Formats: sequence, C-alpha cells, structure tokens
Amino acid sequence: MTDLVLVLGVLAAAAVGLWAWRRWQPVSFWYGVGFPARAVLVYLTWHHVASGCRLTRNRRRFRLTLDAIPVVGPASRSAATVVEQKRRVRRVDVERSPRLGVLRPTRLGWRMRVRLHDGQVPADYEKAAEGVAHAWRVHSVRVVDVRPGFVTLWATMRDPLVDVVAEPETGELLRVRPGKLENGRDWVIDFRTVPHWINAGATQSGKSNLANALIKGLAPQPVALVGFDLKGGVEFTPYAPRLSALATTRKESVDLLADLVGEVENRMALCRAHGARNVWTLAEPLRPVPVVVLVDEVAELFLIADKSEKDQVARTATALLRLAQLGRAFAVYLVVCGQRIGSDLGPGVTALRAQLSGRVCHRVNDPETANMTLGDLDPAALDAARAIPAETPGVCVVAGQDGSWHRARSVNVPESAAEQAAHDYAHLTPDWDALTGSVPTARPAA
Ligand SMILES: Nc1ncnc2c1ncn2[C@@H]1O[C@H](COP(=O)(O)OP(=O)(O)OP(=O)(O)O)[C@@H](O)[C@H]1O
Ligand SMILES: [Mg+2]
Repeated sequence: MTDLVLVLGVLAAAAVGLWAWRRWQPVSFWYGVGFPARAVLVYLTWHHVASGCRLTRNRRRFRLTLDAIPVVGPASRSAATVVEQKRRVRRVDVERSPRLGVLRPTRLGWRMRVRLHDGQVPADYEKAAEGVAHAWRVHSVRVVDVRPGFVTLWATMRDPLVDVVAEPETGELLRVRPGKLENGRDWVIDFRTVPHWINAGATQSGKSNLANALIKGLAPQPVALVGFDLKGGVEFTPYAPRLSALATTRKESVDLLADLVGEVENRMALCRAHGARNVWTLAEPLRPVPVVVLVDEVAELFLIADKSEKDQVARTATALLRLAQLGRAFAVYLVVCGQRIGSDLGPGVTALRAQLSGRVCHRVNDPETANMTLGDLDPAALDAARAIPAETPGVCVVAGQDGSWHRARSVNVPESAAEQAAHDYAHLTPDWDALTGSVPTARPAA
C-alpha cells in the first residue's frame, strides 16, 4: 500500500513538474520534451499519414514467400493430405512512403526534408499540406524550400499571429520590423532590398496600421518621409512634424510628384558626375538622404471626376511610374496603399504595379483585389490571402521579390503611437527646400 502511495506521489510530482516547466519555461520545455515526443510521433505515424494524404507510391518488389502446398499421399498408405512448405519468389505491390529526413525543431514547430518519389512534384505536397496538418493536429504545414528531388515541410504548432509583439525600429538604415511572420520570425521590410511596396486590403483590414508601423520604425532614422493623403489629410496630418512634405489635394500631389521626379533627376546627375551607378556607391558626405514616399489610398490619385482632371491624372501616373522605375538606384522608395490597385483605375496602374515588387495583401472583399496584388506570384499565396478572417485585422500575406511568401501580422501601432514618434523625432525631419534645392510646393502644416 505504501509502495503504491509512493509511486502515485512520484507520478503526481513529475506531472506537476512538467506542467510548471511548460507553464513558466515554454521554450526550453518545447526543445526538451515537446519536440522529442512530437518527433517520435511523426516518425511512427508518417507512413500512415502519407498514405492517407496520397503521398505514397506502390512499388513492385520480389519477395520470398513460404507457400503451403498440399501433397496427397499414396492411397495404399493413407488418404490424408500432407502439407509441404515450399519457398517461392513472388512479385508483390508494396506501399512506400516518401523518405523522411531528420526533423529539426523550430521555435513554433519543426521542419523536415522529404524525398520526392519519382514523378512527384512540390505541388503534390502543397495540396496535401492541409491534410498533413490535420493528421498531426498542428496549426499549419507549409512547403518552404524546394530542391531538385526534395521538399522541406514546415509545421507550426499554433498560430503565432494571434498576439503579435514587435518593436518596429531595428536600428538599421531603411530596415523596419513591422510585425511577425507565421513561422515566428520577425517580419522585416528592408527598402534597400525591396524598394517599393503595395499595401492592399479592404477597409478596416490594417493598411493604415502598417503605415503607422513604418512611420514609427523610420521616424528615428536619417530618412525623409513624404506623404500623399488625398483623404483630405486625415490619415497623415498627425504625423506632419516628421514629414518633409505632405500633399492632401490633387494639385499638391501633382506638384509634389514633380518635385520628387526632379529630385531623382538631380541625384542621377550627381551620380553621373561622380561616376557612380547609384547613390550607395557615392562617398558618404555626398550621399543624399533616402526618401520614403507613403501614398494612402492610391485610387484617389487616379480618380477622374471631370475632363479637366484628365491631364493631372496622366501626369500623376507618369510621375509615379518614373519614381518606381528610377527610385531604387537613387534612394527614393514607395509604399502605395489602397483598397484596389488594378487596371480599372486607369492607364499606367498596371505598369506601376509591376514595379512595386514588395506585396502586402490584407483581408480583401473581392478575390480580384488579391489577384491584383498577388496574382502574378504563387496561387497558394492567393488562397491564403482570401482566407484571412475579418476578426484579425493586420493579418496579411507578404511577398518579396524572390517569390517566397508568408502569412504575417503587423504589430498594433495606434495612431497615437505613430504621432508620438513623429513628435519625438521631429528634429530629424530633413527640410524639403534644402533636400530638393527648390521652393517647396507642399508643406505639411505642423
Ligand atoms: N496588426 C493589428 N493588430 C491589432 N489590431 C489591428 C492591427 N491592424 C489594424 N488593427 C485594428 O483594425 C482597425 C482597422 O485598421 P486600419 O485603420 O489600419 O484599417 P485600414 O485598412 O487602413 O482601413 P481604411 O481603409 O478604412 O482606412 C483599427 O482599429 C486597428 O486598431
Ligand atoms: Mg486606412
């Protein structure tokens, strides 16, 4: 009896210990207990899971079998049947699962390499991923890396985008950390790698929140911020202290875009004069300050109310396209926000969109918007964008120019936080006159 009590006591203490370990040290618990247990389960069930998700293949194999052959004895001695065991080589079908590599733990799950059967393609695994996730009872399984003959599957135990904590400022020039990726890593926007971005989504999907995160992340850096806000300036006016220029009407937009194109041409001439291919190869004292241009609701820039605006819209479209085409080399970067960014807005938008290689697609109301933002990338990215629920504003699908994409969520940056950053770093705002060497055409009201 006392032995039983002792055993029960030890078991209870172990259970409480494990619970406490998991509760207060979840990361070390995952690496020490959770992941090894999962790995065993994955290896043990892989054949079954692969078979259920139709990833197995039947292979013909020759097998040695022991067959029982009836031998009838001589009638004189006995009528009984004698059974003789005989070895035979037979051809049989064997179901083979794809070979699994070593499971490697990640902070939120694991990754593993799988060797493709002959005739299989990565798309077979993308199709099966949802089934595999259900079989393993995990949040998601994604195909993340494709090499000839192999794919890497990335399993995530829980959705890391439920509660995002991140500090947008990275301390590195033109790099901002607006949130987290689904794989638990930081979502980093690096304008020097991907210079221009589309930020698309339905109303209340989190576009302005992302713009706030960018402003908060860029405000402490030695960069000029320029805003276009044709919603009467309601979105960007609070950030005016940190904006070098802000256009809130069509006329101001046309003039400010002309200034920006002029600035790009000045930088071009500067580079030419010093034999540099881009501003980053200029000597540091000569290097002009980078400019990040934020456009809120781009459709307003392209809207033609009457004939008199046609010319202004055409000039706007041309100037934006020129900035997108030339900006990268001359440190002028674009972030274009909008509910719809497609050919229906007018000529030039499709060409502009093609230049904006960074894509962020929030929740959309119509599949066409997702198609316009991500359609030229992976179809799976499109499906992921269409599946974003309304209850999770800020969740988006992010794609860079290398073709890879991720589900991500921006950190919640309320307007007050971005406004505070704009005030705190107002002293870093480059003067637009000094920057462009021209008379300003649009100044933000401080
Ligand atoms: N990452 C996030 N985490 C939590 N809440 C968020 C996040 N992003 C946005 N929200 C909330 O969702 C609401 C809508 O966000 P936001 O204003 O950015 O949408 P929007 O796409 O700019 O909408 P509109 O097109 O109407 O301007 C806000 O109240 C904001 O607090
Ligand atoms: Mg908004």
